[in-house]
Amino acid sequence: MSDKILYEGKSKIVYQGPDSESYIIRYKDTATAFNGEKKEDLSGKGKLNAAISNLIFEYLMKNGIETHLIKVIDDTSVLVKKTEIIMVEVIVRNVAAGSFSKKYGIAEGTALKNTVVEFSLKSDELGDPMINESQITAIGIAAADELSLLTKLALRTNELLSALFIKTGIKLIDFKLEFGRCDAPGGGKRIILCDEISPDSCRFWDAATNKKLDKDVFRRDLGDVLEGYREVLGRLQNA
Ligand code: TMP
Ligand code: ASP
Repeated sequence: MSDKILYEGKSKIVYQGPDSESYIIRYKDTATAFNGEKKEDLSGKGKLNAAISNLIFEYLMKNGIETHLIKVIDDTSVLVKKTEIIMVEVIVRNVAAGSFSKKYGIAEGTALKNTVVEFSLKSDELGDPMINESQITAIGIAAADELSLLTKLALRTNELLSALFIKTGIKLIDFKLEFGRCDAPGGGKRIILCDEISPDSCRFWDAATNKKLDKDVFRRDLGDVLEGYREVLGRLQNA
């Protein structure tokens, strides 16, 4: 594996890939919350998140969503297509929880009358503030047509993931997606799904008991964090 680190994030390391069009991403065991304020090494988290995210990306790709995943290298590393990351996080919510519940005073677990799509500026320095579409286009982070594509892709991903998770007895409460631009074969740019989809970036509740199977167990000190991650992986493998 190339060992030239291009970027080290809180939970993953990005290395130069074998050619100029790819990166290698390695999942770390580090868990962080509250913009890195709370931090702990959870042995085996990297492997679990890699396995869960790879399984989900492969499912999405089979169902027509383009992603950066080229191939799985080993149990913590993947080869991915090089992209220019669009500096917004796209958050999709099916049920009120987390910052949405806090900000708007809606009890966690309240069903939403429609799916919510939100954007946050990807900036650790600023604490990922929420940002609206006219603010995003005004700053020049993404164009209006790109934003409508991000919204469309996020909603389609939500439909596909909701259909997958319902079979596992897990409620998909909310999740965060990241996208990148890459060169389109015939010239121009296209937008593909990047980063990861794992219990670090989603809220998963057991459908029967509402037990949390995601990073909220770490954020809120609710017990064995990886127990839920193992449960999610096991159920996806049997879906
Ligand atoms: P929130 O309710 O804290 O805004 O989180 C919404 C979703 O986004 C939740 O599934 C967790 C995920 N998320 C991330 O992936 N990274 C983050 O930095 C934050 C704050 C949330
Ligand atoms: N990923 C973010 C952090 O490390 C926040 C979170 O997921 O709660 O701080």
